[in-house]
Amino acid sequence: MILLRELQIKNFRSHSDSRIEFDTGINLIAGRNGAGKSSILEAILVSFYGLKPAGLRKNDLVRINSSGYSLTLTFYLNGEKITISRKSNGEAVLTGKEVIEGDSNITEWIEKHICPAHVFTGAIYVRQGEIDSIIRDDESRERIIKQITRIEDYENAWRNLGTVIKMLEKEKNSLKEFLRQEEEIRKRKEAKENEIDKTKREIKELENLEERLSEELERLKTRLNELEDYKSKLELLKKQENQHLQERRGLEERLKGLEKQLEEVNFRILELEKMAKEAEKLKPEAERFLALEKLLSEINREIKDLERKEKGLVEKLAEIRTQIRKSEEDGSKLEEVKRKIEELENELLKFESSHKLLEGLRGRIERLQSLKAKLDEKGLTPDKIEKMYSLVSKAREEEKEITEKLKKLIAKKSSLLTRGKQLKKAVEDLKSAEGSCPVCGRELDDDHRRRILLEYREEMRKIAEELARAEDFEKTLKGKLEEIERTLAMQEAVLKYRQMVEEIKGLEKELSAHDIEKLSAESEEYKRIKEKLDGLKGQEKVLSVSANKLDELRIQHREIEELLKELENKKLDFYRKLREEGFGNLEELEREVRSLRDYHNRWLQLKDSDKRLEDEIRRRGALEKEISETKIRFDEIDEELKTLKAQIEDVLGVYSEDEHRKLNEEYLRISKELSGLKSRVEALRENLQTAERDLNFLKEQLARMDEYRRRVEVFEKVAIPELTEIRDKFRKYKNLIAESSMREVERYASEIFEELTEGKYSGIRLKKVTERGKERLRVFVLYQGEEREIGFLSGGELIALGLAFRLALSMFMIRGRVPLLILDEPTPFLDEERRRKLVDVTTNYLRKIPQVIIVSHDDELKDAADRVIFVDSQGGVSRVRYVEAQ
Ligand SMILES: Nc1ncnc2c1ncn2[C@@H]1O[C@H](COP(=O)(O)OP(=O)(O)OP(=O)(O)O)[C@@H](O)[C@H]1O
Ligand SMILES: [Mg+2]
Repeated sequence: MILLRELQIKNFRSHSDSRIEFDTGINLIAGRNGAGKSSILEAILVSFYGLKPAGLRKNDLVRINSSGYSLTLTFYLNGEKITISRKSNGEAVLTGKEVIEGDSNITEWIEKHICPAHVFTGAIYVRQGEIDSIIRDDESRERIIKQITRIEDYENAWRNLGTVIKMLEKEKNSLKEFLRQEEEIRKRKEAKENEIDKTKREIKELENLEERLSEELERLKTRLNELEDYKSKLELLKKQENQHLQERRGLEERLKGLEKQLEEVNFRILELEKMAKEAEKLKPEAERFLALEKLLSEINREIKDLERKEKGLVEKLAEIRTQIRKSEEDGSKLEEVKRKIEELENELLKFESSHKLLEGLRGRIERLQSLKAKLDEKGLTPDKIEKMYSLVSKAREEEKEITEKLKKLIAKKSSLLTRGKQLKKAVEDLKSAEGSCPVCGRELDDDHRRRILLEYREEMRKIAEELARAEDFEKTLKGKLEEIERTLAMQEAVLKYRQMVEEIKGLEKELSAHDIEKLSAESEEYKRIKEKLDGLKGQEKVLSVSANKLDELRIQHREIEELLKELENKKLDFYRKLREEGFGNLEELEREVRSLRDYHNRWLQLKDSDKRLEDEIRRRGALEKEISETKIRFDEIDEELKTLKAQIEDVLGVYSEDEHRKLNEEYLRISKELSGLKSRVEALRENLQTAERDLNFLKEQLARMDEYRRRVEVFEKVAIPELTEIRDKFRKYKNLIAESSMREVERYASEIFEELTEGKYSGIRLKKVTERGKERLRVFVLYQGEEREIGFLSGGELIALGLAFRLALSMFMIRGRVPLLILDEPTPFLDEERRRKLVDVTTNYLRKIPQVIIVSHDDELKDAADRVIFVDSQGGVSRVRYVEAQ
């Protein structure tokens, strides 16, 4: 039993994210063309089998603008809940009692546990437009019917049994062939046995020989070891003898060397003794040289120093003398300057009062000049300023008058306006008045009214005229007022200018009391003298500094002269010392030092001779000691050599080199022979093993012969004849089952077809016919009691027949494993009546199938359905909703 439960679709065809639940009974998927109905069925197919069924391409299935689809189908198989998830990237998982991964593994599992893919698309899922293919296409019909009725299984079994029988025949023949070789195998066995015996004997002989040779080798080995010992002892002694001889030669050499050295040392001692005597003689001269050289260098150094100092002092003295001369000159200049200063100071006094007076007046003079400059700059003269002043005064008068006039004018204007308003109201009143006159109280007739109105209007006109005049006058007055205000704006400035004129007059009057020009000339003179005086005073200061230095300079002069005298005395001291040493002058001393230098140098060379002499004497002692020790060792070695020679003689008495060589050669020869023997024995043993294995194999073959004979008998007499018989029976059963299955499908199809055609056709026939040597399953319909080819049917009837077949196959299968039917648009080309009939068929036949999924936009089917699943498309994306059945 299979029952689909739920399908989740993501990004598959027109579905972006849909979830569809299925129920038992009839599930109708309804909706307009292109809504996404068939896509749901395709999703079921892909969930089960992946892309295996022909005509599905991943690129078409993945929703446009998405990266990949994913499908999850949940269903029950014999009560077990199973979920399959597949994605377009190849990921796939089946989860039930077991978990299976991998696209093809899952497909394989489904084919095994539900049905193969082509059975699913042939009988369970009828794709859109394929409802009649089972009728039209001979081959697919044959294949589907064979698979569904399981005739195929029987055919396969019959064919397989044939193969088995053929295999048994082959096996039997090969065994017989083998049995024919028995005699030859026996002969081969005997030959092998003989070969083994011979090899064993040969091995025995070789082993005996091997033993003998081993003993001989052992004996040789012992003797060789003995000889080896002697040889190594002899070698050791000879080595020692050699070492001794070598040492003896070394000692001889050494003795010779030492004696030569002794001779040399003795010669050197004689030489050094002579040199020491000479040095003793030269000593006093050398010492005198040293003392005089010291004195000479001292005098040289001191005198130079004194001369250098003397030179410095003489220069300084000259400089001071120059300064003294200058200081004396500056003294007399100073007198002159002081006299001039006195003169100038007297003269300055004459101009001082004028200068001070002018300084006092300077502020007022400058003020006067600046005031005049200001007025000049504006081009103003006192006359002009007076004129401006009288203009301003007049304007002030006029302003008062015009303001007065304006006040009156405004009062008049306002009384005119008030009267105007009164008149206007009176006219209004009069117009609407009835009965008595509101003006005079008399009876109001039209005439009266007109007359008064005329009067009023006349007055109003006059008022208007007068107002216009007043307006004009006001404008003129205001114009004048503006002009006056412009003049008055100057008032402040004019007053300021007048003040300035006043101040100028005052200042001029004040200054006229002095002769300014004379004052200025005298003040200038004062300044000139003052400047000169300042210069002289500066000079006076500089000169007096110079003149004052004179005393100080004279003191310095005296001091330096004294220092010079001191230096002279020191020099004289040195010369006195020189005389004491017996030299008239420095040159004599130098000559003496030169003449003594050679003695001193020679003495320097010789002065260490006595020390070196001591060293050489010590050396002589050491050499003599070493010579006597070496002679003692020499005697010892000669003694030891004698002993060694005697020992060597002893060994040579028992060891012969010739014998040793011969025995060694013998030993090698026998060893070689022995190892050759060993490898021969080894090879023979291997041969023996191979031969024994061969023999065993031959024995086994002979033992098996009996068993094979028994088997051949069973194959020939029992297995092959019985299997052949079973195979024949199988064929008969297959035909019987095929016949009965076909009749059953035929019966279901007949009933449904008859129903669908309302009895026009009384049924169908499935018949085997042989066409071009091939068996074919053909469909016929029964029309008025006669069999007709399907070409007889109309298009709609053909569809009905297809439907009848599919339903019949499904009915047949209900007894089998797949109680499910999926139909995509089964009703095209059916007329109204037939479509209605289909509802009955659906009700009668489809009800027998536990779960049916139909895609249709046939409204009649809605009534028959248990669950309606609506699909519609919104902007190219499918949406799913449910309508439960009534
Ligand atoms: N890969 C895709 N991506 C997006 N849309 C697709 C894709 N493949 C097909 N479509 C659209 O999906 C729509 C639904 O196709 P489907 O076959 O499911 O329609 P239907 O409901 O069965 O219509 P009809 O009644 O005509 O058979 C089609 O109109 C098609 O344009
Ligand atoms: Mg469709």
